Amino acid sequence: QQRAYFTIEGESYPADQWTNTPDTILSHVGRRLYLDDNHPLAITRKLIESQFPNPVFGNYSEKTPVVTTAQNFDVLGFPPDHPGRSRTDTYYVNEKTVLRTHTSAHQQAYFQQINRNEQTRPEEVGYTVIADVYRRDAIDRSHYPVFHQMEGAMLWKRPSPDPLAHSSATAAKIMADLDKLPRHDVGVEDPNPTIHPERNPLQAEHHSAEEVEAVGAHLKRSLENMVIRIFTEASKAAAASAGTPTEQEPLKVRWVEAYFPFTSPSWELEVFWQGDWLEILGCGVIKQELLINSDVPNRMGWAFGLGIERIAMLLFNIPDIRLFWSRDERFLSQFRAGQIARFEPFSKHPACYKDVAFWLPPAAVTGGKSAAGGAVPFHENDVMEIVRGIGGDLVEDVALIDEFTHPKTSRKSMCYRINYRSLERTLTNEETNGLHDQVREKLVGLLGVELR
Ligand code: PHE
Repeated sequence: QQRAYFTIEGESYPADQWTNTPDTILSHVGRRLYLDDNHPLAITRKLIESQFPNPVFGNYSEKTPVVTTAQNFDVLGFPPDHPGRSRTDTYYVNEKTVLRTHTSAHQQAYFQQINRNEQTRPEEVGYTVIADVYRRDAIDRSHYPVFHQMEGAMLWKRPSPDPLAHSSATAAKIMADLDKLPRHDVGVEDPNPTIHPERNPLQAEHHSAEEVEAVGAHLKRSLENMVIRIFTEASKAAAASAGTPTEQEPLKVRWVEAYFPFTSPSWELEVFWQGDWLEILGCGVIKQELLINSDVPNRMGWAFGLGIERIAMLLFNIPDIRLFWSRDERFLSQFRAGQIARFEPFSKHPACYKDVAFWLPPAAVTGGKSAAGGAVPFHENDVMEIVRGIGGDLVEDVALIDEFTHPKTSRKSMCYRINYRSLERTLTNEETNGLHDQVREKLVGLLGVELR
């Protein structure tokens, strides 16, 4: 797949040594599923946006997925050795350009926009943005290399350019806004202090503890209200399809300390629903350095980000993430704008499991370089990418089922089990055998493994 340049959404980008974005991934660009009113991703988008209404929030989407490494990583304070930057995890268009791995890549642009619109739309101090995001990852029913995220943020103006002067006034203003948010009576577990000196530090040179308590309280209530709305809808849909109101444990939420390079303090919000704690979103108090670098030095605020498929799968009871890309009317015809109802599977075609076992090349065992200098350390995501490139949406799942190191030669052996299953039809033996043979060949050709 050596090519000189890419055209993505009408823009041209030169390829280089870093390029690792295959055409099968690029073929997903431009679908904009979140704009198809009757698609479950669009219905989910609208439900979330309704919790962040105008005029305080503008509700946006971002068309092209191509961003610079500066936007995706540097501006947000990702350290140079952060694993997210690696070519095993991220699709590079070229050295300086990637397919965005998260909607946070647009934070700076939206903060700059709030500043630009200060005179014309002074009340719009927040935004939501939805977009397709891309990650090299495992293959199973809840992971797909292209998915959608929504991000939101809200800022408050501080009265003085001196960051810590009048911080009580800022805190009071935020608390007054908190008071205007609807209250709820769902149980909330929030065991940790807002600020923890190591795990969740105060940005002491920029913020007072009082301000951070206020932003944190506003953030938490806003996001609790949002997830309560989502899961109330999900419970209603589940009860409607069961026919009778089902006996269910009441909804609960909890706040867990987290880390993101561009927020501090940071949290994850989890929801207890139908017997499991589900991680729903990441969020935090925006790093002031980022706001300073985004033309809004005299504002502070919160941001959150969440995966849309995850939530849509729960809302609509969609069992396999590949279904979102289906053009099959048996899928698409089940959804109507504004309605949340349980998906009825139209058929389940047989699974076809095929194993592939191989020895890693000697250099890959240690993760070092071979004498010839050619071999790269083995990374599972490269196996996934090969399988994806050949099987595409015909592969439901790839699982490592065995791994061992030979006691004498200390060579390492891996065995992966691939489940070939179409969502739409029964695959023939010839077809799956043909795909599997190609996978075996490519593993040898691209990773230098030795088949067993
Ligand atoms: N971008 C983060 C992610 O993809 C989520 C996030 C967004 C966290 C905004 C904090 C603030 O995991």
